[in-house]
Order: sequence, then structure tokens, then C-alpha cells
Amino acid sequence: PKKQPTILFIFGGSGDLTYRKLMPALYNLYLDKYLPDQFRIISIGRSDFSNTTYRNYIKKGISEHSRRKDCLKIAWKEFSELMEYYKADLESEKTYKSIAGYVKNYEDEWKAKATEIYYMSIAPQLAPVVAERLHSAKLMTDPARSRMVFEKPFGHDLQSATDLNIRLGQIFKEEQIYRIDHYLGKETVQNILALRFANALFEPLWNSHYIDYVQITAAENIGVEDRGGYYEQAGALRDMVQNHMLQLLCMLAMEPPLSFDANEIRNKKLDVLKAIRIWHKDEVHQNAVRGQYEAGWIEGKQVKGYRQEKNVAPDSKVETFAAVKFYVDNWRWKDVPFYVRTGKCMHSKSTMVTIQFKPAPQYAFPNEAAETWRPNRLTVSISPQMDIRLRFQTKQPGPQMALQPVDMIFNYSDAYGGEDKQPEAYETLLEDVIEGNATLFMRADQVEAAWEIIQPILEAWKTRPPVDFPNYAPGSWGPEDAEALIAKDGYHWITLP
Ligand code: BG6
Repeated sequence: PKKQPTILFIFGGSGDLTYRKLMPALYNLYLDKYLPDQFRIISIGRSDFSNTTYRNYIKKGISEHSRRKDCLKIAWKEFSELMEYYKADLESEKTYKSIAGYVKNYEDEWKAKATEIYYMSIAPQLAPVVAERLHSAKLMTDPARSRMVFEKPFGHDLQSATDLNIRLGQIFKEEQIYRIDHYLGKETVQNILALRFANALFEPLWNSHYIDYVQITAAENIGVEDRGGYYEQAGALRDMVQNHMLQLLCMLAMEPPLSFDANEIRNKKLDVLKAIRIWHKDEVHQNAVRGQYEAGWIEGKQVKGYRQEKNVAPDSKVETFAAVKFYVDNWRWKDVPFYVRTGKCMHSKSTMVTIQFKPAPQYAFPNEAAETWRPNRLTVSISPQMDIRLRFQTKQPGPQMALQPVDMIFNYSDAYGGEDKQPEAYETLLEDVIEGNATLFMRADQVEAAWEIIQPILEAWKTRPPVDFPNYAPGSWGPEDAEALIAKDGYHWITLP
């Protein structure tokens, strides 16, 4: 279907996110013919650029970060002409008068009303300022044709997120607000819905009668790099658990949706968030573990400890690792633990989900036949490995009855081609904003429900500062306490083969 004429304003046009993610995504959308025929990108930033120098700068970003290799040979000139750079102070009213001018000019040229998208690729404290200015300048007035995109973090805690939602609710309609969680744009994450709800095979087993526990790991093998300033205000809990990890948990735990309507999916996910047991401050220390990486080595390369990173306090108490045990208190998930862990400078880059099924109810085989009596496990590798593995028990060939678990593997690149063929999360999400599809974005109530779960952990950790930081070596799987958290239930963390 023909798409509405659209103008995308990127606040933070000279920033890192625009350079690495947004522009490569837009360029790939252009190549795949997903952008509207009438489309313009106005990048707003403080740096000095002319249109020509800006386009060259973006060209470099695309060549470094696009999933397509050799891409700039195709249609670069045409794409680059869709981009304009506007050096402006985002606090000044004048800027918004000019924005209104851009909209008017393009509408006159196109002889059609345009959809306006305002993308906040700026520091989180500035986004509300832009919202106020857009409102006073009478932009964002038509709910059907104007949208504002917020990057995470959305708020710093429950109170600030709620305040921001209240204010946005006074000046805009909820359907104009797109709160991004880029994990939801990942192919492998969206595929969880297909796996669960487009197959009759798994869903009958998808509950506490058959599932022992669920694990979600998002490990990174790099440190905070040059984001120390931001990270000191965030920490792993705010940076990853409040958003990405809880969203993954929702995808795994939600009830089947009746349709793919944005609000239907979000209602079902909200039900999960509402059912997650909120730890009392006194229970936090039994159910959540934090860590901070020390200096050391990863794959022969020396790495700094977190406290030595740029813009990080030398006695920082900020966690770079978090592991939490959650329960979803509803019929389906009664007493099934969901173990979640994430950290920087860990053993490897690996985001994955494991569903561990219960053992068979009765063993007909001699005890020595098997090393494990819990063979049934479904592993969804989200990134960078992209596959789904179903593990089950087989008989090892030979005269004895010896059992051996094996994996049945669905591999994305075998089925659908390599990584360069899969749209990146930001492509999917930008395309959705352009089309006005909010399914993969956070609604106000979801963000607040997620903060409600995290808030007591933040508070308990604040009142009892860590005494053992730094407490894990780079290249490891995190602090020993994380192992203990799960070992006391008789399990261990699962890593990819
Ligand atoms: C971001 C966090 O949201 O997600 C980063 O702010 C983190 O700290 C990143 O590195 C991880 O994303 P991905 O897609 O590489 O797993």
C-alpha cells in the first residue's frame, strides 16, 4: 500500500545512535523500498555541518555499520538527497518555528499533508524539553499524523517515569508516543511469538506442569566503552533489566493474544508484568545479585576495570552485572522461576533464552543409562547466534542402552540467509513508526509496571551498598553469587554449546 508522505526529524542528528543505527537502518529501508515515495529526513544537531559534509559523515557511518556490505554503490546519491542537516539549539523557540516551516514547505511541494515524526536521539533529560517546545509551537497536534519517538531510558525510576507519562498525557495522545525497546525489533525476539502461537506443538507444554524453569541471559563481552557518564547514572538493572530483559520475559510468559492488534499484544504483556512478584526490600538480597567487573584480560586483550573507565568514579558502586530471580504469579506459571542475568565484560556476547522442561515422569531405563534425566530443553539464541534448539534424549548406537541428549536445530542463516539478509531491529522499528504501528513499542502503563518491579531492588541496593565491588573478572560469567543464586534451587546457568 502507498505510504503517507513523511518528514522524519531526528533530534541528535550528529550523535552516535543516528550514525550507527538510525541512518544505516533508513538506508536499508530505502534500498528495500519500504520508505514512502515522499520522504525527507531533517537531522537537527549542535555540530557544524553543511548538507554536504553531513551527508559525507553519514556515508561513513553507513559504510561502517550497515548490515549490507558494498551497499554504498547502490542509490547512495538518491538516498543522501533525502537528508538535510539543520544546526539548531533545541531549547530555542526559533528552532520550532523553522520546523513548522519545513513541514509547510514540504506539504506545499508535495501538495499533501505530511506525517511528522520527531525522533529523540538525545540525552533522556532533553526529550521532555523538546516535547514541551513541540507542544507550544503547535506541532504534534494531529494524533493521526504526528508521532514522537523516545529512546530508553524512559525515566530514571518509577516516580520520574510516571511524572513524564502524566505530562506527555496532558499534551499529546498516548498513540502519538513511541517508546522504543530495540530488543522487540529483533527478528529472533519477534519469532518467539511465531514459535509459541503459530505452532500447536509447544503451547500445550508451555506451563508449570511441564516447565521447570526459564532462563534469560544477555551477556556482553565489552565494557561500558565511552558511555561511562551515562552508565554511572544507570547500572545494569536500569540499562537492561527494566526494559529488554523484562520484555523478553513478557514474550515468553504472555497468554496467547486474540489478534495482532497493538493494544491486544500490549495488554497481554502488561498482564505478565502485573503478575510478576514484587520483591519486598527485605527479600531482594536473596533474589537478586549484582556485580562489577575488575581489570583483567579478555581473549588476550587487557581490559580496564569499571572503576578505571572514563567518567566513572574511582569508588563507583554502580553494578555492571545483575541477576534476578522472578516469579510470575498466575495459573500458568505457578512456582516456575524465571532467572534473568545480564552483564558487561562477560565471557562472550550472547543473548539467549532457555526453557527447561521437567524430566519424564517415570524412567523405564536403568539409572546408569543417562547422564541427565532432564534432557528436554528449548534454547532460543537471540544474538549474535540466531537459532532455536530442541534437546531430547536418544539412544546411543551400541549394544548397551545408553542415552544421549541431542539437539534438533533451526538455524536462521540456513533457512533464511545470513545476517546481512535479516532486517536490523531499527529497520523494523522505524518502519513501524512510519506506518503508525505501535505493537512493538512500550505503552505508558507497561513502562510503569516494569519500573514497579525494579524499584524495590534499586532501593534495597541503595540502602545496602556493595562491599565486595569489583567482584568479577572480565571474561567470566559474572560474580560467584550469581551461581549461588541459582544453585540453591538445584540448577545452574546454561551457556551455549
Ligand atoms: C542497550 C544498552 O539498550 O542495549 C547497552 O543501553 C547494551 O548498554 C545494548 O550494550 C545491548 O544491545 P544488543 O542489541 O547489542 O544486545
